Amino acid sequence: MENHIERRSSCRRQRVVLFPMPFQGHINPMLQLANILYSKGFSITVIHTNFNSSYKSNYPHFTFRPVLDNDPKDNNLAKLASKGIGDLLLGIMLLNQCGADSLHRELEQMFVASKQQHEPIVCLITDALWYFTQSVADSLKLPRIVLRTSSLFCVNVYASIPLLDDQGYFNQADSVFYEENIMSPDDTSNFKKTKSSKPVLNLEEQVPEIPLLKVKDIIKMRIKGQEDPTGKLLANMLKQTKASSGVIWNSFTELEEPELKKILQYFPVPCFLIGPFHKCFPASSSSLFEPDRSSMSWLDHQSPSSVLYISFGSTAQLEEQQFLEVVHGLADSKQPFLWVMRPGFIKGLEGTEPLPKWFLDLVGERGRIVKWAPQQEVLAHKAIGAFWTHNGWNSTLESICEGVPMICSPFWGDQPLDARYVSDVLKIGIYLENGWAREEIASAIRRVMVEEERDEIKKRTKCLKEKVNSSLSKGGSSYESLETLIGYISSF
Ligand code: UDX
Repeated sequence: MENHIERRSSCRRQRVVLFPMPFQGHINPMLQLANILYSKGFSITVIHTNFNSSYKSNYPHFTFRPVLDNDPKDNNLAKLASKGIGDLLLGIMLLNQCGADSLHRELEQMFVASKQQHEPIVCLITDALWYFTQSVADSLKLPRIVLRTSSLFCVNVYASIPLLDDQGYFNQADSVFYEENIMSPDDTSNFKKTKSSKPVLNLEEQVPEIPLLKVKDIIKMRIKGQEDPTGKLLANMLKQTKASSGVIWNSFTELEEPELKKILQYFPVPCFLIGPFHKCFPASSSSLFEPDRSSMSWLDHQSPSSVLYISFGSTAQLEEQQFLEVVHGLADSKQPFLWVMRPGFIKGLEGTEPLPKWFLDLVGERGRIVKWAPQQEVLAHKAIGAFWTHNGWNSTLESICEGVPMICSPFWGDQPLDARYVSDVLKIGIYLENGWAREEIASAIRRVMVEEERDEIKKRTKCLKEKVNSSLSKGGSSYESLETLIGYISSF
């Protein structure tokens, strides 16, 4: 015990600088990681863009420093704060292109201050997508550790993009079906691969290069190949992650063991799987929206395992037609529900204008709609029976940790990969992989909430929840990996 305290107090003389991406799904894990490191005795500085940093007041024990978009004379960067989430990719690219000087200056000033305080900055931890930070860290001889906020499986697929591109899988990424995700499965037979010399594949076919995936999973990522801006961004991310001093993952070994082997071969640097982070520190304090706590008292009045929780994260948007299919599917399922409808969640609209009057009556009887929920608490509530999710990695982990089965409706990026993993590998969710047809929605809800199949899924989710808990306990994989990480950072 004494040694532990001694180490903590001596560690407090070391400062770690963390730099999150300014989006909810990236801020939450980075701030949770910051809290974990603080609890281990490190001082914390968080550098942030002004684009999305409203959570600062919840962390009086951290130092916050603005960078990049805080210079009003810089036309590129100053405009960024006023841009919407639709410009997400543009913002990431812009900051990666223009951010180096500003970050360099800021870090130099921090070095001066840290010297005066006798509290050396020992390393920089940045989101993997901030790939430009590697050269800045190198020029200052500061070790950079990468935080990758997705699954390992997702990164293994990203690493295969050049191979998949050469095979022609991205050729038809504009396919109407997967841009809008509303056609019936029969329509998918029209999809053909053209670049490959292989025979024509349909979307339901397995990808031989990554047998876990179907062709349509690759299309759903919405990357158009290695020369596409997103493809280039990911290639840079991987390259600069390889050049870093280590990678921290918000995952745990037992969840992705076969993927870990590939990751260790791909990245020649130490890897630390210390997740799920949120089990140590909740996400609500880094929320960009105000959670509506009335959802909790509403849940208190519902029967155990009876409520379907629906949330598609902080950025996904539904077409109006898809939204109405959800409305009908929910009504037909006859199950109680708690539905998060973020402002702007229906494409082109601020509110929920298309909601029919009859559905609002139904909400009065057996539903609740909120703009933002305290998601972790909701998932931990005994009334929750299943989570209809977009499979952002944080939501996926939060569901796993609470032993809640999922219905998977991914939109883009890593989400279709996580959905496939949840449904086909972990077998703890039902993948609505053919879009948004009301009959399929109602059927999936009943399968996961009332029909016999539910018991098997529930058994597997419970087993996985136990694995999470043991990985975080003393001697468990995440616990031990965190200890190694702390030793590693302290040694810089
Ligand atoms: C984004 C990407 O979409 C995702 O695929 C990637 O893995 C991370 O970045 P996002 O879409 O916001 O994230 O999804 P997710 O990763 O699930 O993160 C959402 C976070 O917001 C979760 O921590 C969740 O608990 C929180 N949340 C969501 C709430 O607190 N309340 C809500 O009502 C909805």
